[in-house]
Amino acid sequence: MPKRIPIIIDTDPGQDDAVAILLALASPELEILAITTVAGNVPLALTELNARKICELGGRPDIAIYSGAIRPMVRNLVTAEEVHGKTGLDGPVLPDPVMPVQKQHAIDFIVETLMSHPAGTITLCTLGPLTNIALALVREPRIASRIKQIVAMGGGYFEQGNVTPSAEFNIYVDPHAARIVFDAGIPITLMPLDCTHQALTTQKRIEAFRTMTNRSGPATAAMLDFFERFDENKYGTDGGPLHDPCVIAWLLQPELFEGRLVNVSIECESELTMGATVIDWWKVTRRPLNAQVMRNVDAEGFFTLLRDRIATLP
Ligand code: RIB
Ligand code: CA
Repeated sequence: MPKRIPIIIDTDPGQDDAVAILLALASPELEILAITTVAGNVPLALTELNARKICELGGRPDIAIYSGAIRPMVRNLVTAEEVHGKTGLDGPVLPDPVMPVQKQHAIDFIVETLMSHPAGTITLCTLGPLTNIALALVREPRIASRIKQIVAMGGGYFEQGNVTPSAEFNIYVDPHAARIVFDAGIPITLMPLDCTHQALTTQKRIEAFRTMTNRSGPATAAMLDFFERFDENKYGTDGGPLHDPCVIAWLLQPELFEGRLVNVSIECESELTMGATVIDWWKVTRRPLNAQVMRNVDAEGFFTLLRDRIATLP
């Protein structure tokens, strides 16, 4: 087997984060160095609790989980209980976790790990607001050249926004953090709504999880049953977009995705368009090409990967 890919997953679980974490736990190609949690879909105390619940669901109580930023860098925290439920993981009934959360702050862990590992070896998989990553860059700017790549779910251009007409949730919650990350010169692969909106949790696809004989499959189905209802009502589709697992799937099978290297700039001034990802898709400016932005995904292939991997979990 080729060398495993060392990753840190930064996340605000969230049902779609949960499925992304399960996919990573089920993928031996990946070496999960840790999971760092951030305030986003729900407050930090819940995202940290949910991360532990998910690791225990996936049979991995050994995973190191760190708690990070309790709020965005500048703006007040905006959460999304209307999408994810009061707990942030509504749907399945999961037992309270026994596994611990690490004492060290996530930002210190990120800096220490990047400074101690060989430069250019660690991939950051970000599934929520970019607060932890930006604060780590402010705390220790030298990590920028040591990060191999960031694979991030966030933003939108052709699909516009999902929390405002112009902004996607992860970027909207902490646009200042996003600007710091996108301006840091780190190789970024971005999974925007333009791509994730093609990965719909149709009833047929959810049934494939529900009928699995393990515990992770039915729990995934229960999470998606709850998670998709908000977007099904909003978009009138069969199923809702499954955003965060696209990040992990890209690492496993990049051929499922198609995109291009362009400039991504973040709106941090106008309240009307706060958090918009201004993506220079047609390269009409001379702004630096700072991100590989994914535009299309092979949805069938994506769900086949998801189904095959989650079936291997407890
Ligand atoms: O806009 C979708 C993103 O916001 C996903 O990461 C979802 O979990 C929420 O964090
Ligand atoms: Ca998320």
